[in-house]
Amino acid sequence: MVGLIPQHFIDDLLTRIDIVDIVDSSVALKKAGRDFKACCPFHDEKTPSFTVSQNKQFYHCFGCGAHGTAISFLMDYSGLDFIEAVEELASRAGVEVPREQGDFSKTKDNSELYELMELVVRHFCRQLRESPEAHRAVDYLKQRGLSGELAKEFELGFAPPGWDILLNTLGTSDAAKQRLTQIGMILEKDNGDHYDRFRDRIIFPIRDQRGRAIGFGGRVFDDSLPKYLNSPETPIFHKGRELYGLFQARHQLKDMERIYIVEGYMDVLALAQHGIRNVVASLGTAVTENHLERLFRVCPQIIICFDGDNAGQKAAWRSMEIALPLLKEGRQIHFMFMPEGDDPDTYVHRHGREKFEDMNNYVPLSNYLIDKFKRETNLDSREGLAQLAEGIMPLVGVLPAGALQELLLNDIFKLTGISIDSLRKLIDQKKPTVKSTKAQHLVSASQTNKKLKSHVADAIRLLLHNPELGMTIEPSTLSDIETKGVGFLRELLTFIHQKPEISCAGILEHWRDSKYEERLNKLSIEDCLLTEPEALKVELFEVIDKIKHDYQKQLRKINLQKLDIKNPDEARSMLNPTPATNSEE
Ligand code: UTP
Ligand code: MN
Repeated sequence: MVGLIPQHFIDDLLTRIDIVDIVDSSVALKKAGRDFKACCPFHDEKTPSFTVSQNKQFYHCFGCGAHGTAISFLMDYSGLDFIEAVEELASRAGVEVPREQGDFSKTKDNSELYELMELVVRHFCRQLRESPEAHRAVDYLKQRGLSGELAKEFELGFAPPGWDILLNTLGTSDAAKQRLTQIGMILEKDNGDHYDRFRDRIIFPIRDQRGRAIGFGGRVFDDSLPKYLNSPETPIFHKGRELYGLFQARHQLKDMERIYIVEGYMDVLALAQHGIRNVVASLGTAVTENHLERLFRVCPQIIICFDGDNAGQKAAWRSMEIALPLLKEGRQIHFMFMPEGDDPDTYVHRHGREKFEDMNNYVPLSNYLIDKFKRETNLDSREGLAQLAEGIMPLVGVLPAGALQELLLNDIFKLTGISIDSLRKLIDQKKPTVKSTKAQHLVSASQTNKKLKSHVADAIRLLLHNPELGMTIEPSTLSDIETKGVGFLRELLTFIHQKPEISCAGILEHWRDSKYEERLNKLSIEDCLLTEPEALKVELFEVIDKIKHDYQKQLRKINLQKLDIKNPDEARSMLNPTPATNSEE
C-alpha cells in the first residue's frame, strides 16, 4: 500500500489528463478568458474566484488561497489519499498504474526504506502482543486511559528492553543493517557492531499525509529522560514538517469543520479516545508555516491548543506570529488555553469532550493579540499607549489587507486615540539604520545575495509558469554558480529538457514531498505579468544573465573582504584587471 508508483509514471500521467475535466466533474466550470472559473468549493463565496488554468494544469482560488494540481484536487476535494488520487486519474486516462520494479528513479531509492519502515511498524506491534515484557506496556496504555482498539488504530507498539531485538529480527544481512541505519532504527558502535535505538519504550509510529510510515516516537514508562526519543532526520523523516495524527484524522473524517493542533502524541490519543478525532500534534516543535498551510488546505479553522505551562504559552505566541500573514479571507485561527498544569490530555480526562469542544473556550487570534498587549502595558499613561501602538502595529501590518486588519486598526484607534492614518505609518517605521561603514559593507554584501536569490526565484517562477521556455537554456550554462537555489534551478532545467511536454502541475507533482515543495507551491501562485512568449523568453535570458553577473560581483566582493586591503581600488584592480562590464567568464 506504500508509495511505490514510479515518479516517471506520475510525470507522464499528468500530461495525459486535463485538470479542467477532473474539476468540472465535481464543480461546474465556466470559461472565462483563457481560464475557467467557479465559486470556490473550498470556502463560501458568492462571486467566483476559483480559477482553473488549462495551460498550467493548475487551480488557484484568489479568495482562500487553495491551489494545486489535479492530484491535489482529488486529495483535497474528494478526500482521496495520494495513491488513490493517482489511481483515479490513471483509470480516467485508461492506463494501468505500474508498480515499481527495476527502475533507478529517485522514488525507488526511498521506496525500499518505506517498505522497511512498514516491517518495523509491524515488528513493534507484534512485540506489544507477544513480548514476555509486553504486560508493562499494555498496563501503561491502560493506565493512560487508552483502549486496545485505539492502540490498534494508531499502531502503537512496544520496544522491549534489550539492545538487539530489532537488530536480530530485521537486520539479518549487512545490506539490511545498512538500511536500518539509514532509517535511524539502529546505531553503529565504534567497533562496527550495531544496537537498537528504541529500547524499553512505547512506540508511536508517525505516518505522513499519504499514510507512509516515516518515523517513530518512543516514550519511557517512568520519569527517566529523555521522555520521548524520536527518529533522527533521515531521507524520509523531517521533523518539523510532519503532523502526528493527520493521516488518521483525514481517514476518519471526510469534511472537517475545524482541526486542533496540540503538542504531543498523548494529547492526540487522549482526545481521540474521547471521540475528538480532528486533532494533530506538532511533535513538540514550534508550529511552522508549512504546518498551517497544510491544515488550511484541509479545513478553514485551526484551533491551537498548547499546554498550560510557560513553554506552551510561548509556543502559542510564536504560532500567532507565524499565522498572521496566512490569515486570508475565510481562514480562522483560535487559541484554547489550558489551565496552568493541564495539557489537552489531562483536560479532556478531567472535563470531558463537551467542555473541550465548547467554542466559548476559544479565543480568536485577534483578541489574543490585543489582549496580550493590553495586559502588558500601562493603559493609564500616554507612554503606555504609545508603547502598545508601536508594539502591535508591526504585527497588524503583517495581516493580509482586509476586513480583519481594518477591524483591528479601528480597535487600536479606539484604545489609544491615535488616528488610523498615523497607526498605518507605524507599520513600516521599523527600518534598520546602518551604523558603521563596516556594517554597511556587510549589509551591501547580503543585499547582493538577496538580490541574487530573488533573481533565482524569478527564473524558477518563469519556468514554472512557462516550462517550455526551459528548452531555450542549457542547464550547463549555470554549472559554475554556487549560489543557493541555483542547484535547484539547474535540476529544474534538466528535468524540463527530459520532459519538454511538462506543465506547471507536472513540475509541482515531481517535487511533491521534497524540500522544494513548499517553495514551488508559493511561486506557483505568484502571478507572472508577461504572457507574450517572446517577451517571456527575453525576460528569462535577462534573469539568467543577472544571476551570472551578480554571482561574479559577489565573488569579487568576498575576495576583497578576504584580502582586507585598505585601498579597495587597489584590491579591485588586482582581482580584476579589466573592470567588468559583463560577466561572461
Ligand atoms: P510533552 O512533554 O507535553 O508530552 O511533550 P506528552 O505528549 O504530553 O506526553 P505525556 O503526557 O507526558 O506522556 C510534547 C511533545 O514534545 C515532544 C513529543 O512529541 C511530545 O509528545 N517531546 C517531548 C520530545 O520529542 N522529546 C521529549 O523528551 C519530550
Ligand atoms: Mn501530557
